[in-house]
Amino acid sequence: MGEIDVVVLVSRWLHIGAVVVAIGGAAFLRFVLTPAASSTLSEEDNNRLREAVRARWNKFVQGCVGLLLLTGGINFAMLAMPPKIEPMPYHAIFGIKFFAAMAVFFIASGLAGKSPAFDGMRAKSKKWLSLLLFLAAAIVLMSGVLAQVRSAGKSVSETTESVAATTSQPDQ
Ligand code: HEM
Repeated sequence: MGEIDVVVLVSRWLHIGAVVVAIGGAAFLRFVLTPAASSTLSEEDNNRLREAVRARWNKFVQGCVGLLLLTGGINFAMLAMPPKIEPMPYHAIFGIKFFAAMAVFFIASGLAGKSPAFDGMRAKSKKWLSLLLFLAAAIVLMSGVLAQVRSAGKSVSETTESVAATTSQPDQ
């Protein structure tokens, strides 16, 4: 068994922690709070609640986006730079994941922010939250594929190394 890398462990912990908070919060908003508030509150009260929730949730969104970018960058630098892995197919899948993550950050920031440019998005928040959750689910799946591609590549290179070491032993 190899040694535990504390930086990789802490970075992965924070990365997955931020995913749990951000995606869990978005699912709660989409499937619990928004429908419950619309079916019980007057339009005026519902608008006041929405604004109060938006202002508080915005801080979580900003924190989680910052943490995901930072820890994602650390994960990539520590785990996915050649010669540690073969660039293909890892980097191609990572490119799609990164692009999808930027779309998720864009939607999350638009919904939680207060810029008038995103009023239209906030007016259709259920639709945009559904798209965000769909993309997030795809990203979690792609991340699992990345981890498997990486460990599959590692076992191939470990096998090759051990075969090379055995065959290079001089005959006794
Ligand atoms: C919505 C945004 C994101 C979600 C939901 C997400 C989700 C995840 C999850 C669940 C893992 C753990 C996979 C596993 O070990 O099975 C992971 C790993 C990782 N993430 Fe993210 N992530 C996001 C954004 C980012 C960003 C922006 C970056 C890069 C800047 C990034 C880079 C990475 C890397 C390099 C790994 C390690 C993959 C491996 O094991 O080879 N992630 N991510």
